[in-house]
Amino acid sequence: MNLKPKPQKKHNIGLLAKPMQYRNKEKDAAVERTMRWSASAPANIALIKYMGKKDFSKNIPSNPSLSYTLNHLRSFVEIEVSTENEDRWEKHPQLSSASLSEKEQARFLSHFSFLKNFFNYTGFFYLRSANNFPASCGLASSASSFAALTLCAVTAFCELQNKPLLSRKDISQLARLGSGSACRSFFSPFALWETDYAENIDLPYQDLKHRVLLITRKNKKITSSQAHQTVLTSLSFTGRPERAQTRLQLLINALQKQDWKAAFELVWQEFWDMHCLFETAHPPFSYLLPESLLALNILRDFWEKEGDGPLVTMDAGPNIHLLFRPDQKNIYQDLTKKLSKSFQLFAPNEF
Ligand code: DP6
Repeated sequence: MNLKPKPQKKHNIGLLAKPMQYRNKEKDAAVERTMRWSASAPANIALIKYMGKKDFSKNIPSNPSLSYTLNHLRSFVEIEVSTENEDRWEKHPQLSSASLSEKEQARFLSHFSFLKNFFNYTGFFYLRSANNFPASCGLASSASSFAALTLCAVTAFCELQNKPLLSRKDISQLARLGSGSACRSFFSPFALWETDYAENIDLPYQDLKHRVLLITRKNKKITSSQAHQTVLTSLSFTGRPERAQTRLQLLINALQKQDWKAAFELVWQEFWDMHCLFETAHPPFSYLLPESLLALNILRDFWEKEGDGPLVTMDAGPNIHLLFRPDQKNIYQDLTKKLSKSFQLFAPNEF
């Protein structure tokens, strides 16, 4: 099967990376220099999931995945040369965002340290990061934050070493080593990740509206990195890479033909396939809460009655992601009436 994307139009993915306040006009003068870089990258939601790894140390996935990029939901990273003798993570000074836990800081710093080694760069930095979406909105921030960190660090090291900036494909590959799903955040609106790096894939539905049904704001007990390991113990993991591969091809065909209903059915089957792996692993675990099931029933009934509705998917968490076509404003309003009685909706982009 050839999943290689066709040549395509260029999309503005809104990746931003720039040197900041680099004042070095008088090279010999001992001027106070602030060497600082900033970058931003978007989150993404997988329609065909990355779950299970062939190589854990390199985040090589067991199967290809397809995602939709959420350009409104971004992480911002700033890197500044430090005079201290270690790298340090700090809260972003301009943006208010939840603090990283010690574990998260260590993971962030460890990827930065890998990137420093990759560029053979010695020297220490302050790293600052923040998201423009609440940590509690049901979105994994690891994809956008590792994408932004990688982009920012690569920009800084290339500039410090007078090297041309790496290609987007190479940056995607480096970001994958921090967190697998981060490699898809460099391409928009759809990204296809087969093995080493992600690429653009040109498909219709370029402007979907994303909503999150917030089931709980609590942090999940099992991280997605742990889930990648545990799913391998499920008997249903046998055949999972093949199922995901087949479903991916069917989904690409459905989206190309603009068969929205077929796309909904495939995306629905895909997240259930992943959640079944969780429930049948040894030991089994679950992200589904009773409220998730209630909301999924409302969504299924809506589709059955109306023959139309949003794409519905869930990541490794209890919250539910909805993607609407821009012409589905009425459907969105109808569904909101039904859902908002019991659930909170996070609506980052307007119709
Ligand atoms: C369920 O990219 O968070 O969201 O590579 O271990 O950092 P690591 O895992 P991560 O896994 C994401 C899993 C998922 C599905 C997906 O985004 O494809």
